[in-house]
Amino acid sequence: MATQKTHYVCTECGGTGPKWLGKCPSCNAWNTLIESIPESGAPTKNRFASLAKTAEVTTLGDIDAVDMDRTPTGHEELDRVLGGGIVEGGVVLIGGDPGIGKSTLLLQALDSLQRHGKNTLYVTGEESGAQVALRSRRLGLDNSQVKVLAEIQLDKILATLNTMQPDVAVIDSIQTVYSDQLTSAPGSVAQVRECAAHLTRAAKASGVCIVLVGHVTKEGTLAGPRVLEHMVDTVLYFEGDTHSSFRLVRAIKNRFGAVNEIGVFAMTEKGLKGVSNPSAIFLSQHAEPVPGSCVMVTLEGTRPMLVEIQALVDSGGPSPRRLSVGLDKDRLAMLLAVLHRHAGVACMDQDVFVNAVGGVRISEPAADLAVLLAITSSLRGKPLPKGFVAFGEVGLAGEVRPAPRGQERLKEAAKLGFSVAVVPKANAPKKPIEGMTIHAVERVEQAMEIVRSLG
Ligand code: TYD
Ligand code: MG
Repeated sequence: MATQKTHYVCTECGGTGPKWLGKCPSCNAWNTLIESIPESGAPTKNRFASLAKTAEVTTLGDIDAVDMDRTPTGHEELDRVLGGGIVEGGVVLIGGDPGIGKSTLLLQALDSLQRHGKNTLYVTGEESGAQVALRSRRLGLDNSQVKVLAEIQLDKILATLNTMQPDVAVIDSIQTVYSDQLTSAPGSVAQVRECAAHLTRAAKASGVCIVLVGHVTKEGTLAGPRVLEHMVDTVLYFEGDTHSSFRLVRAIKNRFGAVNEIGVFAMTEKGLKGVSNPSAIFLSQHAEPVPGSCVMVTLEGTRPMLVEIQALVDSGGPSPRRLSVGLDKDRLAMLLAVLHRHAGVACMDQDVFVNAVGGVRISEPAADLAVLLAITSSLRGKPLPKGFVAFGEVGLAGEVRPAPRGQERLKEAAKLGFSVAVVPKANAPKKPIEGMTIHAVERVEQAMEIVRSLG
């Protein structure tokens, strides 16, 4: 096929030019020119045709609201994040660091769908068919009927989808697929966007459910998969430390279900296994309490989980460092300021490191109180009492704000044998929880005082 001439379009202003430039000649923005296919004189009508089917204008109340038909993948934890299972014509993006288990999970899911009578296709661009076969043997998927296509050229993939008409297809990964209409290399923003748009259109047109695999670096800087988030129906991200065996899959967008639901898996020698009761997996095992550690209860989707927050405060140089893993760095700076102004605890000349154990990422502000208590515990070199938990959001005025569904969090902690809790006043239960002493606080100073009196 003759390669069409491409041009460069500015993502800021839409200006075009024949070649790549660092600075857009139209709006002077830097690094915004991206290769794309120009619309020729005879407009290719379908190129930007809406992905949704057009219809008459109707009243909302008159439209039959039939829920989507969901096909469970057979992996309960995966179905949980998908909102019940895969949907016909749905496009799912699964992102995550290399080596975290994306290919493993999808191969397992495809195999179980195939065994339930679905027609499945696994398109691999990163590994050869033999490598995929080897992996499936290792996973114990004997005599698997999943169809495999080792191909990276978009047109051939689309042609295969068209002739084979599978129910589910996995593209592993979108960064390896290329369209020969563009000269840029596979994995570039232009290629990733173009290929994903074509695949999405194919999914909507034919009803095949397409799962796109995308790599994201730790910083999330790689623009590749990020530009896809708007295009697809569901976005799932893998989290977790590749050195520990636990993996979290988090739904950050879902047109067919609830977001912020997480699936928890453990990587075993037979692949990923769902963990149906994950509440205690992010606790490290200290025989005796150690300074700088505070357990919090976080609510991930519908399930409370206990996560240990660790802090280390150490004398630093002239410009002390603040480092956080799994928690927001700006929030840490803010909490240290609150600690200084409202509780009189200064860390100005100290390095402060905080970490959420097990590679879990905590984005909810309910972690604030536990972070502060871990920091002061490390600073004083005194451990928090045995069986201690805390949660609550801390405001700039030093107030402790309630966390959603506090009762559930406390009950889960009590179930796992925790016996002392410091919580926001509004989260204090009306009826006492058996085996647990609960201290309700309104301000950070109060929380510090209680901890001091306990220790
Ligand atoms: P993989 O699915 O290839 O990661 P991704 O597709 O996200 O890049 O995961 C590979 C890792 O998982 C690799 O480091 C080995 C490990 N693994 C197991 O521990 N057990 C298994 O059964 C398999 C297949 C892989
Ligand atoms: Mg892979």
